[in-house]
Amino acid sequence: MKTYAMRIAGAPVAPASDDWFETQNPYTGQAWARIPRGNAADVDVAVQAAHRAFSEGDWADLTATQRGLLLYRLADLIERDARKLAETEVRDNGKLLAEMHGQLNYVPQWFRYYGGLADKIHGSTLPLDKKGYFAYTRREPLGVVAAITPWNSPLLLLAWKIAPALAAGCTVVVKPSEFTSASTLEFAELFEEAGFPPGVLNVVTGFGHEVGAALVQHPLVQKVTFTGSDQTGRLINEQAARLLKHTSLELGGKSPNIVFDDADMEQAVFGAVSGIFAATGQTCIAGSRLLVQDSIYDRFVEQLVGLARPARMGDPMDAATQVGPVTTPPQYQKVLDYIGIAQREGATLLLGGQAAQRPECGKGWFVEPTIFGDVRNSMRIAQEEVFGPVLSIIRFKDEAEALHIANDIRFGLAAAVWTQDMARALRMSEKLKAGTVWINTYRAVSFMAPFGGYKDSGLGRENGIDAINEYLQVKSVWLNTGAVAGNPFVLR
Ligand code: NAI
Ligand code: MG
Repeated sequence: MKTYAMRIAGAPVAPASDDWFETQNPYTGQAWARIPRGNAADVDVAVQAAHRAFSEGDWADLTATQRGLLLYRLADLIERDARKLAETEVRDNGKLLAEMHGQLNYVPQWFRYYGGLADKIHGSTLPLDKKGYFAYTRREPLGVVAAITPWNSPLLLLAWKIAPALAAGCTVVVKPSEFTSASTLEFAELFEEAGFPPGVLNVVTGFGHEVGAALVQHPLVQKVTFTGSDQTGRLINEQAARLLKHTSLELGGKSPNIVFDDADMEQAVFGAVSGIFAATGQTCIAGSRLLVQDSIYDRFVEQLVGLARPARMGDPMDAATQVGPVTTPPQYQKVLDYIGIAQREGATLLLGGQAAQRPECGKGWFVEPTIFGDVRNSMRIAQEEVFGPVLSIIRFKDEAEALHIANDIRFGLAAAVWTQDMARALRMSEKLKAGTVWINTYRAVSFMAPFGGYKDSGLGRENGIDAINEYLQVKSVWLNTGAVAGNPFVLR
């Protein structure tokens, strides 16, 4: 079994506790590696290293252009090691190899995009209302950033956080999910090779209540960027608020995928299936509420079930596999529990509805792709995030009802509309309360397109030019060009 070390100040480090925990392969259900169990002492060492790197020495002295070049070099190394990183993720997370290939070929673009942006961060001169002064703004990095990441797409979501943070000039301590820490630890080794000064990126592994909580509470951490459950996000935001730290939170959703009767049926069926079953439904943007117009409901549902039924499950390393395992044992249980809840609520089971018993699934944590029809939006299965391969289908009459159902939820991460009527698509996209709206597509994301939640789906935005502002603060500088000071006891 492989034993990993944490990465602090550019070196492999054993945990202060001298304790490791096992991480499992979701396909075999077996432990395959030992992950260091960090604690508050490790967090302190890592944050101190990040703070030193931020305040003095090579990183602090780099020009913005040089910082950008390091990000380019890192992008090249990720590309070189894409296969190895992909296989580690498949082993630890159960993601399909095909998906991981796609992801790791795309991740370098985040570092190139923000690498290019590094030397385009500038302030402005101010047209002042006072004579005898010159004033300008500087946009400065916040300092040490804590990046707390989930298990569903560890490297992609890490890139979304650290590419803009590093471009801004911050330094980072990462805490990956305890279920999928291996890829982040391997990824961190590339930083030294790319030439980043020690301490710019550090990884402390371990549990949320130990490592995560200590990071959020560390006085030298200026900003917490988090992706995960809304419960943990709320807790982090409360603790950060007490200490007046900045936060960005991406907290998942229950996104409506809305199909009107004039939609391109085949495309919409593909979009509905990839919307929910890609990554075994374990994505924050899963299209887990499928809203289908009455007039096409039966036909659409028949085609959808027909496409999903023969999906091949099995070894995620096998290129032919279409649906992989659920990543963690608690998540596996949670998905099965929600299937039970939906049945008790009276939803009609159209497909799946149980743990997969197929021989090709071995001892892995597999759940059959599951589809419920006749779901009412008030049911828990329509309102709560399952984060698994479970789709709820809801009927609607017309545009007004579709919109009402779509927005009648506390989440607002994403939504999609399938229709040939562009005027309707634009009306819907204006009124849908979600940070991303797709028209006749699903699941498109890019380093260029701002991403984040309305309502309970989170705070702040990732990706796109503006995401850099999440890691900057503005300073105003005043220079006296001729104003003469009067009596200091008389306020003007
Ligand atoms: P979680 O939100 O508890 O974990 C996310 C990260 O936060 C992990 O690194 C975890 O160790 C850390 N963490 C946990 N407690 C913490 C604390 N008190 N202080 C600081 N950090 C802490 O999510 P978990 O338990 O892995 O999954 C639970 C549910 O969350 C899933 O069933 C799913 O519904 C949702 N989820 C949503 C994701 C999204 O992309 N929005 C991603 C992963 C899970
Ligand atoms: Mg694992």
